[in-house]
Amino acid sequence: MADYRILLLGPPGAGKGTQSKRLADEYDLDHITTGDALRENKEMETEYGTPAEYMDAGELVPDPVVNEIVVAALEDADGFVLDGYPRNLDQAEFLSEETDLDYVVFLDVPEDELVDRLTGRRVCPECGANYHVEFDQPAEEGVCDECGADLVQRDDDTEETVRERLRVYRENTEPVVEHYRDEGALVEVSGEGTPDDVFDRIQDVVEN
Ligand code: AP5
Repeated sequence: MADYRILLLGPPGAGKGTQSKRLADEYDLDHITTGDALRENKEMETEYGTPAEYMDAGELVPDPVVNEIVVAALEDADGFVLDGYPRNLDQAEFLSEETDLDYVVFLDVPEDELVDRLTGRRVCPECGANYHVEFDQPAEEGVCDECGADLVQRDDDTEETVRERLRVYRENTEPVVEHYRDEGALVEVSGEGTPDDVFDRIQDVVEN
């Protein structure tokens, strides 16, 4: 099995987490996700305050905090799928000094659908499984299929914070997408359709 180094880019709600988990399972890759790592350490005191102060407002956590997470994760990984990083040009430059990438895949989804996906997302606080109240329902409403825990809404999935996350994305992360496009490294994939449809498209990129 090849040790692919894959970067998945896309706006909040494009399906980066959903597709990264599938890629990690399919190709036996490490799933490196700054979002999950920060949620696990939301109340950690840093010299910039806690990650929660930024995340719950939909703002970016300061670069030194996230760069440290990524460096530690890359050290342990041969092949990986990177999800949620880099989110601004400084992070992209930092990453280019740390590792090469085999594929940079951009998941493209219209903004209205992003808002629906995020405000309808429900997550399992115990095992991390993701659902959607309409598009990906658990067998029993509000209960995790995997471990039976009660599902919750992420603190930053309220409509107001979602709109702010999208604004922050446009301001900070769209230039990162342009940067990889200018380098000729970006492969654009439609993120619409079912998660299976999207995964087929990504697999096509990775294998062909
Ligand atoms: P993070 O956790 O990375 O959030 P995000 O980028 O906003 O992405 P999401 O997890 O919301 O969406 P996703 O694209 O993974 O979609 P998903 O697959 O879940 O970051 C959170 C916060 O942490 C940031 O706001 C920031 O504060 C901080 N942070 C993180 N990284 C940082 C960094 N590098 N620098 C600074 N700060 C950082 O899907 C969404 C929903 O849609 C789910 O309900 C799912 O079931 C559904 N869905 C998925 N695919 C489909 C489909 N094909 N059709 C229909 N529904 C679908």
